[in-house]
Amino acid sequence: MNILITGGAGFIGSNFIRYMLTNYNHKIINLDCLNYAGNLKNLRDIAGDSNYHFIKGDIGNRSLLNTVFQEFEIRVVVNFAAESHVDRSIEDPEIFGKTNIMGTLALLDTARQFWKIHPQNKFSREFKENVKFLQVSTDEVYGTLGTEGYFTEKTNLAPNSPYSASKASADLLVRAYFETFGLPVNITRCSNNYGPYQFPEKLIPLMINNAMKNRAMPIYGDGKQVRDWLHVKDHCTAIDAVMQKGIGGEVYNIGGNNEKQNIEIVKLILKALNRGEDQITYVTDRLGHDKRYAIDSSKIKKELGWSPSYTFEQGMKETIEWYLKNQEWMEDVISGEYIRYYDQMYGERGIFLPMTQGVNGLEAEVFDK
Ligand code: NAD
Ligand code: TYD
Repeated sequence: MNILITGGAGFIGSNFIRYMLTNYNHKIINLDCLNYAGNLKNLRDIAGDSNYHFIKGDIGNRSLLNTVFQEFEIRVVVNFAAESHVDRSIEDPEIFGKTNIMGTLALLDTARQFWKIHPQNKFSREFKENVKFLQVSTDEVYGTLGTEGYFTEKTNLAPNSPYSASKASADLLVRAYFETFGLPVNITRCSNNYGPYQFPEKLIPLMINNAMKNRAMPIYGDGKQVRDWLHVKDHCTAIDAVMQKGIGGEVYNIGGNNEKQNIEIVKLILKALNRGEDQITYVTDRLGHDKRYAIDSSKIKKELGWSPSYTFEQGMKETIEWYLKNQEWMEDVISGEYIRYYDQMYGERGIFLPMTQGVNGLEAEVFDK
């Protein structure tokens, strides 16, 4: 079977491609435009696999999509490609509409045309087993929770950031292609992922990197916001379960039942790296900052038999070790563009925290200037 994976050079996509090539004999076509977070070094170990094929391109490019679908006879699409960072969506929302909404629409429509979808196919079990469009979405489409309760698949969509609004919009298009055209779709909505190859704009790799280099650890607001953390490899097994067994048109929530306040995560990282808590620096809060995410994943557990395999303690231990061992990967990622991003993003947060500024009278380590 030929599977189109979009955004496969990013954090979760690259972990998923590695997982698929290790466990199956499918042909994987990775379509990725290589934005700032897309990095072929995430796939260096499997780039030579005869079942792997990389195409550099934009999911919004219809003529490229037609060629890819035709040439590779694509049967399954797993759409990871996205602009994925909330803070960037607050700075510059437009690209989030272009990629996350219009790009998904272009993919959906190419799949509909190429698979010769007819509305009646919605009811044809045989057809559903042949092709599938899997949209990788996020729990952030549900908005924010108070101290009680969980997001279920029935929770209303109430996104608060331009990022989550663009993902919710894509989800609605995916739903519409099922309802109107009978395109066999699934949507997965996962909580925050952590693990190897995550771009260090996100909380965990950013804090590990800063802790190692004597930099300030910038906590937004009071640091008491709660996220539900899942190891990326457990996200991969969940997507696999949905790809194989998901019922057409259904949404599946995926979560780790690991609710942690941001400040707890940062303290855990400092402790693991034998660093003092004086590296913690409270900075201006994110606009529209969601207070708490927590996923009820009983549907995927009950209906598809999925469950996570990592405990948070084991997952974080392995993750911190991975970043310690792979400092060359990190140095490569934090190139000139990252330094510009970092100094602008954190410069705007009240206390200027340039990458070159250390804490405790120590020099911060900066490599690539
Ligand atoms: P990422 O930013 O690390 O990777 C995104 C990838 O998409 C990059 O390789 C990038 O080059 C590519 N891309 C961006 N625009 C593209 C375009 N127009 N055409 C082709 N490729 C394009 O993101 P990630 O953390 O790996 O997230 C992957 C998906 O999972 C996203 O859809 C995200 O919304 C979703 N998700 C992420 C998390 C998380 O915690 N990271 C949680 C739930 C869901
Ligand atoms: P992030 O990794 O950006 O994921 P998301 O916003 O999609 O949940 O952020 C996770 C949490 O950490 C979020 O509440 C914002 C907070 N945060 C900080 O406090 N400081 C930081 O430097 C970053 C990047 C995030």
